[in-house]
Amino acid sequence: MAEHESLEFGKADFVLLDNVSMDEFMGNLKLRFEKGRIYTYIGEVVVSVNPYRAMNIYGREIVEQYKGRELYERPPHLFAIADAAYKAMKRRNKDTCIVISGESGAGKTEASKYIMQYIAAITNPNQRAEVERVKNMLLKSNCVLEAFGNAKTNRNDNSSRFGKYMDINFDFKGDPIGGHISNYLLEKSRVIFQQEGERSFHSFYQLLRGAPESLLRSIHIQKDPKAYNYVKVGGQIKSGINDNADFKAVADAMKVIGFTGDEIQTVYKILATILHLGNLTFGTDGDVTLIENSKVVSVLKDLLSTKEENVEKSLLYRTVATGRDVIEKQHTVQEASYGRDALAKAMYERMFCWIVSRINDIIEVKNYDANIHGKNTVIGVLDIYGFEIFQNNSFEQFCINYCNEKLQQLFIQLVLKQEQEEYQREGIPWKHIDYFNNQIIVDLVEQQHKGMISILDEACMNVGKVTDEVFLQGLNGKLAKHAHYTSRKLAPTDKTLEFDRDFRIRHYAGDVVYSVVGFIDKNKDTLFQDFKRLLYNSSNPVLRGMWPEGKLRITEVTKRPLTAATLFKNSMISLVENLACKEPYYVRCIKPNDVKSPLLFEHQRCQHQVEYLGLLENVRVRRAGFAYRQTYPRFLQRYKMISEFTWPNHSLGSDKAAVKSLLKSCGFEHDVAYGNTKVFIRTPRTLFSLEEQRAEMVKRIVLFLQKVWRGTLARMRYRRMRAALIILRAYRRYKVKSYIKEVNRRFKNIKNMKDYGRRVKWPTPPKVLRKFEEALRSIYNRWWAWTLIKSLSPEQTLQVRAKVAGFEALKGHRTDLGLQRAWEGNYLKRDSPGTASSFTLVSSELQRRDKFMRVLFSCNVRKINRFNKAEDRTVLITDRHLYKMDPLKQYKPMKSIPLYNVTGVSVSPGKDQLVVFHTKDSRDLVVCLQGLVPPNESRIGELVGTLLSHFKSEKRKLQVNVASPIQCSMNGRKCTIIVEAKINQSQPDFTKSRAGYILSVPGN
Ligand SMILES: Nc1ncnc2c1ncn2[C@@H]1O[C@H](COP(=O)(O)OP(=O)(O)OP(=O)(O)O)[C@@H](O)[C@H]1O
Ligand SMILES: [Mg+2]
Repeated sequence: MAEHESLEFGKADFVLLDNVSMDEFMGNLKLRFEKGRIYTYIGEVVVSVNPYRAMNIYGREIVEQYKGRELYERPPHLFAIADAAYKAMKRRNKDTCIVISGESGAGKTEASKYIMQYIAAITNPNQRAEVERVKNMLLKSNCVLEAFGNAKTNRNDNSSRFGKYMDINFDFKGDPIGGHISNYLLEKSRVIFQQEGERSFHSFYQLLRGAPESLLRSIHIQKDPKAYNYVKVGGQIKSGINDNADFKAVADAMKVIGFTGDEIQTVYKILATILHLGNLTFGTDGDVTLIENSKVVSVLKDLLSTKEENVEKSLLYRTVATGRDVIEKQHTVQEASYGRDALAKAMYERMFCWIVSRINDIIEVKNYDANIHGKNTVIGVLDIYGFEIFQNNSFEQFCINYCNEKLQQLFIQLVLKQEQEEYQREGIPWKHIDYFNNQIIVDLVEQQHKGMISILDEACMNVGKVTDEVFLQGLNGKLAKHAHYTSRKLAPTDKTLEFDRDFRIRHYAGDVVYSVVGFIDKNKDTLFQDFKRLLYNSSNPVLRGMWPEGKLRITEVTKRPLTAATLFKNSMISLVENLACKEPYYVRCIKPNDVKSPLLFEHQRCQHQVEYLGLLENVRVRRAGFAYRQTYPRFLQRYKMISEFTWPNHSLGSDKAAVKSLLKSCGFEHDVAYGNTKVFIRTPRTLFSLEEQRAEMVKRIVLFLQKVWRGTLARMRYRRMRAALIILRAYRRYKVKSYIKEVNRRFKNIKNMKDYGRRVKWPTPPKVLRKFEEALRSIYNRWWAWTLIKSLSPEQTLQVRAKVAGFEALKGHRTDLGLQRAWEGNYLKRDSPGTASSFTLVSSELQRRDKFMRVLFSCNVRKINRFNKAEDRTVLITDRHLYKMDPLKQYKPMKSIPLYNVTGVSVSPGKDQLVVFHTKDSRDLVVCLQGLVPPNESRIGELVGTLLSHFKSEKRKLQVNVASPIQCSMNGRKCTIIVEAKINQSQPDFTKSRAGYILSVPGN
């Protein structure tokens, strides 16, 4: 269903043909080939036609176009199939494999390389060094394997002469982390013999043409392929292969992969050994077999790091154990030549297998723990020798073609048979499509007892004559009736078959005539034990390591080894089992012509391939069939988020019903069928659209999950914070409580304390209670004051009031307020005890006359008289009047000022006892209290406080000034009174000054 390609290039998918007929199929294939469109789909199978020219379609920008895309989004390409396999692996955790099939020269190996390159290009976006290393190894290993396993044949200049199946392992992120290569039956007969026009393995020519002189000298090789029998013929063939450059590329690749210098040297030595072996000739002297060119033996001993006589002995004799005796049996010339060739083949094959195993050692996944890293998934790429028909087809072609039968059978099983069976099983209406099932040919070859391989093995074990003819007789005897087998004996008129030599198999891909010559030997694949011991005893550890069985002593009896054909059959069966359990992707390669031309599309040739590959049937099955199927539960699991009926869980009767309603709601009813257990989707487009919708919903689900998770996180944070707050609050409460308890404990008893808890230490409050503590302290202070005041007598109360009034008025203005002592008020009796009685008399007289209630204050004073002279007087202040008295005249009242005439008092801030009583009539009275007992007592505070308190009780105002100098009016005249301290002054005294008066006080 590929899009984005105009119809001028033909149909990008054969499924889109108007009629599924061979003519239309071929017409489309040809048109596309001619238009340079070498890839075409049949659904998910890629049909590829070898372009035989460099195509500009594998570059970086093309990779980008296919990366992550669905198959049908871009024109058909190998990259699309590689991406599909990769996606299936990544999305669905499936092991996948890409099976590349087609005849020799159809482009399988090239395809496999492009697939590997694509996978390498799209993985490891983070450029992790380890992954890059693995990728590099995987790519580089190709180059080495091709050098040793490929050769020029008449069909293909770079024909794979071994089968290769490479697993690439991926970690859970989809990055390649290693790999494993399995190799199948190397065509080792090529080492000693090539058909006309063909070459031996590339490695020989690379060494002969590309190795530096010094290396060649060290391994006794001259730079001339024609000098060596085994490669002589091939060495003369002209081809486009650049052996010289390839030698360097392969040497570099081996180094990069991690082959040591010794290992690489040993590889060259083995190649040289084989070349020299080819030149070894045997002759006879009487009945003794000998080596004609014994110089070669000395070279061989050098190359094999062993002794000359051992080399010679193993070439000319074989050790045979008969019971307990061991005898040495001399070879005939023929036997010696056979042994030599067998050695050359075996050494090459061993070396090849060893190279593969060394590469595997290096690329295998290391330190992978599925528990930690998740499932390790695999993409396998199978590139195996294609079906081939040579002039002379031998054992190798028999195996190769059998292998292709197996793969075709797998294709039939997976693509044609299983598919149709599944539709039937699922009850999907289905019209059966006929195809040729090659199982019959597979059975012909591999069936137990009856199959050709069994017959061959039997012939090899025959007691008595063991010849290729015996084998052919066996075949003729047992397979005479088989529709796909014939020989001259069975078809005497068929001149294409030689008597006693040829047999023909009607393969799915065509008839092939095989010659039985060499079948027995190749199947037995014997290498004399003496050679194994020779190589095992080499002092070169690398070489020795390749031949561990050389350790066995000659008398040790070993089990008869499996024959080459049986080994190959077993490996094929296990390969097919391995492939069958993976999700397969197919690349079907077609070879357009036999002459490697980019222009020629040989109709007959191509049609033959289309026929035997079963491509037309493939289209039919595909057209009638469905691109995708999935069991209902799994389908729901993947797509249930698309529909409201199925998300998050459906409430319908069955998963099938749920899938139906899901697909109906998406409008895909017309494109699906409902099987018994699976849903079938016809076109990939529908699947793509489902995937798209899913991807869209997954984003939302992710958002939803994020939302829920963020909510959960926020709630957790909130709960934590709340818990912290509760703890905080509880702690605070605890602190507060314990503070209050402590306060309570300390102050509980204060009522009974003498000082009412004055000396109790307050506990330190927690920060929050600082204000509270202040309030508490003030409450306490009030209580304390109240408790004190409560117990006072009326007099004491008055005194306290006076003290408070004095304190309030003078606090901060004067220092000594006399608050500590008792305020007696009426001091005169104390100060002048001698005249106290006269004073009491006068005072009583005044009380009677002026009806005062109590004396507020009395004291001797010094004052200024009218003549600016200072004289001693006494001041008596009652609650009604202020009297000025003369102590010298028995306290005769000289002046009485009603208190309501007094507007204020002024005092100085110093220690002096100056008081100015301001009156309403501006006749202020200026006095200095004196005769104080004790002498430095200050009574200013008391006087002011007592007056203020009294005025307050009478609700009148008294102005109190603290100033220096003090302003006053004397008889209506404004004047200033200054206080001065004088050293020699014994008593305070007034003197006249310019602005008023100076009160001189004793200073010190
Ligand atoms: N995609 C391609 N682009 C350009 N040339 C190609 C392509 N595919 C194949 N060829 C050419 O065809 C030749 C043969 O291809 P390849 O070696 O892949 O065949 P094969 O199918 O592996 O054959 P065999 O079974 O013999 O190994 C290549 O050497 C190359 O020249
Ligand atoms: Mg190949």
